[in-house]
Amino acid sequence: MPRKKIIAGNWKMNKTAKEAKKLIKELIPLVEKSKADVVICTPFTALYDAVRLTKGTNIAVGAQNIHFEEKGAYTGEVSADMLVDIGVKYVIIGHSERRQYFGDTDETVNLKLKTALSKGLIPIVCCGESLQQRELGVTNELIRTQIKAAFAGVEKEQAKNVIIAYEPIWAIGTGKTATSEQANDACRVIRCVIEEMYNKSTADSIRIQYGGSMNASNAAELLSKPDIDGGLIGGASLKADEFSKIVNYRE
Ligand code: PGA
Repeated sequence: MPRKKIIAGNWKMNKTAKEAKKLIKELIPLVEKSKADVVICTPFTALYDAVRLTKGTNIAVGAQNIHFEEKGAYTGEVSADMLVDIGVKYVIIGHSERRQYFGDTDETVNLKLKTALSKGLIPIVCCGESLQQRELGVTNELIRTQIKAAFAGVEKEQAKNVIIAYEPIWAIGTGKTATSEQANDACRVIRCVIEEMYNKSTADSIRIQYGGSMNASNAAELLSKPDIDGGLIGGASLKADEFSKIVNYRE
C-alpha cells in the first residue's frame, strides 16, 4: 500500500485567534480536493476555533507541544487530555526550536511521545541535525540516536501511527532547503532505524516528512522522492495561497 502524503503547517508563534480564523476560512476551499492529509498546527489560543471551523472539512488540527504529565502543578503547560477534549488530533513533539529554547531533550521527547500515543493524539516527532553536525559528518548517527531515543519503549502497534519529521536545523526558516537527495537520504536512514527497531512492515508504513524552507516551488521535487511522505511547513504555511500550492503539489 503506498503511503498517503501528509502536509502539516507549523504556524509557530504566529496568528492571533482572529487572524487564525481568517487564514483557516481562506484555506478551506483551497485544499478541499487535496490527495494528501492536511494538518494545521496553530498556537494554543487558536486551537478551539480551528477545530470548530474545520469540522466537516479535510483539515485536521494539531498543537505544537504538550506536557508529558497527565495533570498537576506545571504552571504554563498544556496536557494531552486538554487537547483531545477540544478535538485536537495531532501534536508536534521535539521541534528543534523547543529543543533549543525550551529545554526539550531526547528524554522528554520520548516521554511526550508516549503520552501523546496513550491519549490517542498523533505525534509528529521531529529530528534533524545542526549545520555543525552536518559538517562534522555525524548527521546519520545523530538522527539514529534521536529516533532510537524518541521511540524507546513504544510498542510496534503504536509506532506506525507516529509521523516523523526530518528537519535539518540549518534549513529551518533560512531559505536554504536541503536538496531532495539530502532529504531523501536522511528519511531513508530514519526508515532503516525504524526497521531495525520494529520490522519491515512498520518501516514501510510509517510516514516521514521533510521540513525546512519547503515552499510552493520546491515541494513537488521533494515530495517526488521515495522516502519523503510529506512536509512540515513553517513560514510557507502562514499564507493560504502558498500553503495550498504545497498541499496541491503536482505529482
Ligand atoms: P520553515 O519551518 O518551513 O519556516 O523552514 C519548518 C519548521 O520549523 O517546521
